[in-house]
Amino acid sequence: MRNLWVETWRTELQRLEEQDLLRTLRLSHPCGHGRRRIGENEYIDLSSNDYLGLANDPRIVAALHEGAERWGVGATASRMLAGHTEAHRALEERLASLKGTEAALVYPSGFQANIGLFSGLAGRHDLVIADRLCHASILDGIRLSGAKLERFRHNDVAHLEAVLQSAGRESIVATESVFSMEGDTAPLPEILEIVTRYDALLIVDEAHATGIFGKQGAGMWEECHLPTGPDVPVILMGTISKALGCQGGFVCGPRTLIDYLLNRSRSFIFSTGMSPALAWAAVRALEIAVVEKERRQKVLHNAELLCSLVGHTPAKEPHTPIIPVLIGDAERTMRISGRLLDRGILAGAIRPPTVPDGTSRLRLSVSAAHRPEDLRHAAGVVQEEIRTPELWGRGSSPKLGGG
Ligand SMILES: Cc1ncc(COP(=O)(O)O)c(C=O)c1O
Repeated sequence: MRNLWVETWRTELQRLEEQDLLRTLRLSHPCGHGRRRIGENEYIDLSSNDYLGLANDPRIVAALHEGAERWGVGATASRMLAGHTEAHRALEERLASLKGTEAALVYPSGFQANIGLFSGLAGRHDLVIADRLCHASILDGIRLSGAKLERFRHNDVAHLEAVLQSAGRESIVATESVFSMEGDTAPLPEILEIVTRYDALLIVDEAHATGIFGKQGAGMWEECHLPTGPDVPVILMGTISKALGCQGGFVCGPRTLIDYLLNRSRSFIFSTGMSPALAWAAVRALEIAVVEKERRQKVLHNAELLCSLVGHTPAKEPHTPIIPVLIGDAERTMRISGRLLDRGILAGAIRPPTVPDGTSRLRLSVSAAHRPEDLRHAAGVVQEEIRTPELWGRGSSPKLGGG
């Protein structure tokens, strides 16, 4: 027997390797205080999205056990069949209450939530207008829907309005509230104003804002004091997998929207429900994130500290836990991240297709769990490594800040 496909895959992998775009897995083990062990060595971890330091919290681990004992580890079926439990209901009620919406729907992951949301709402005759830097899950959901996709320049409300004007029909507008690779924030009040004026629908991905911003930790929508009732044409999507330290995604909005998704969202209907044990853990994580305000203050304080230490000024306030250090080409980014690893720092090397060509970067992310002395040390090492002259040709240098 001969499998010709293997040769094709190998050739493609070689091509990726030659372009410094090959992705591989690395085993690691969390060891507290925003640190991680790889093999025998311990690293300061600036690459996780565990913004509130909750992923290993014993109270959430205990809730996971309790949830597994009460409802099982797996949901055993789609939520439409046997897979819907009290744990899911509790989580959805709490999410809706936190976000100030009538209802919520949880999915096994944020990626699945975006896929199911966009493909469930839009169809071949619709237009979706997305910020240029929207996440892959949003773009894939739009592609799957068959809707026409237009992009507006990143955070450029004048361009968004121009696209809406020329669209001449009702559209869906998509943005993130905190951008995953830029760490900057969308001008949500202005976007809502434009969207309302054009009778469009706004979908905001709060993956990197939920649990961090706003009086209750609901996200950037709350931070901006924006309305959420059933008459407001907005859907708030988010994930439980980042600041809340668990796993899963959600959609919050009017009750009718959730009923509609129950009937139209294929990634919800045709997939086993989110683990009930995880749903119960997420209920606990949500409680902790809301009540322990000091965690939210700490992560933002740490973000400000690391920003100032690496000399990054965000495009506008507030600081977010994501700090991009723009390097440019993929090969150099990989080399710098390798050198950082040699010196005990884990920093995400972000390359195309995650970011546009020529904007490869280090993505530094901070957590409430980090100790200031670790951040100071890490910042010093990052500064030294990105300024190493042999990494740079004459006239070029790293840029601290967005891409
Ligand atoms: C903006 C954004 N949306 C959605 C997702 C997907 O969420 P999850 O990791 O829960 O699948 C991510 C994850 O990277 C993200 O950054």
